[in-house]
Amino acid sequence: MAILKVGVIGSGLMGSGIAQVSAQAGFATVVREVSPALLDKGLGSVFKFMQSGVEKGKVSPLDLDRVRENLKGTTELKDVADCDLVIEAVPESLELKRQLWGELDGICKPGAIFASNTSSLSITEMSTFVKRPERFIGLHFFNPVPLMKLVEVIRTLRTDPAALQAAQAWCVAIGKTVVNCGDSTGFVVNRLLVPYMIDAVRLYEQGIASRDDIDNAMRLGCGYPMGPLFLGDYVGLDTTLSICEIMFNEFREPRFAAPPLLRRMVLAGLHGRKSGHGFYDWSTTPPR
Ligand code: CAA
Repeated sequence: MAILKVGVIGSGLMGSGIAQVSAQAGFATVVREVSPALLDKGLGSVFKFMQSGVEKGKVSPLDLDRVRENLKGTTELKDVADCDLVIEAVPESLELKRQLWGELDGICKPGAIFASNTSSLSITEMSTFVKRPERFIGLHFFNPVPLMKLVEVIRTLRTDPAALQAAQAWCVAIGKTVVNCGDSTGFVVNRLLVPYMIDAVRLYEQGIASRDDIDNAMRLGCGYPMGPLFLGDYVGLDTTLSICEIMFNEFREPRFAAPPLLRRMVLAGLHGRKSGHGFYDWSTTPPR
């Protein structure tokens, strides 16, 4: 069950990063987006990142050539028909994913492995949208995809071990370390990370410490690369809220309940880096 050609659905932050690392590792990769404008934006971000990597001496011009050669963009779903692995990285709407997977199931070759990059929706539930649930898994990447070394590989009760093995081998081939996990909301990383991040919001909300003191505490006291409020902005406060809500619905534990401030900030359009403001002002470099 060798993986030679990869399809990525969605060229947002995660999809474009996944397509980049796949193409950079030498896999023929097709990334599909719904409109030419969004596709241009996604491919543009890949080449901007690669170019800055070349300037920093982290990416060789050969890598850049390899991505140019291996990475193709499309707005047609049928262009992933002959892919061996199809990874979905579209917005976290179960309805959207239901429709998409139904269409892909009809288009893609029977042996193709289907993977969702969802951070919190149920892989098992998504596997019921297709007629090949035994070939359905989760491949959860981390932001920024080209720099973060981990992929969580999620199996359901029905996943075929051979499909799982082929996907794990592909993750290793693109330079990632695999963590295996059963299908439980939040998997390993978000189950641990999100309660920590929202506890930081609660500390701030209760006036116990300032934004900078909370972030400095964890950066300088624990060696974390980013403080929790900065990381919330970086990941997206809307994304963080949505993960909290899904985890709270699943486990009904107060530690997963969204703090009111987080909800208010999202309602007010303060989504963090993507909207220009969150706990930080992202209109300047570095954010302040
Ligand atoms: N191409 C290649 N390499 C690059 C690069 C580029 N364009 N830009 C930077 N790099 C390299 C740098 O050269 C550097 O390499 P060395 O360590 O070998 O020197 C490394 O990448 C780090 O880059 P920087 O020094 O420029 O930046 P940094 O030290 O501030 O690190 C970071 C940036 C890796 C993002 C770091 O801040 C970090 O790890 N932050 C935490 C991110 C995190 O927690 N992500 C997970 C979020 S949760 C999630 O995604 C899941 C979910 O479901 C919500």
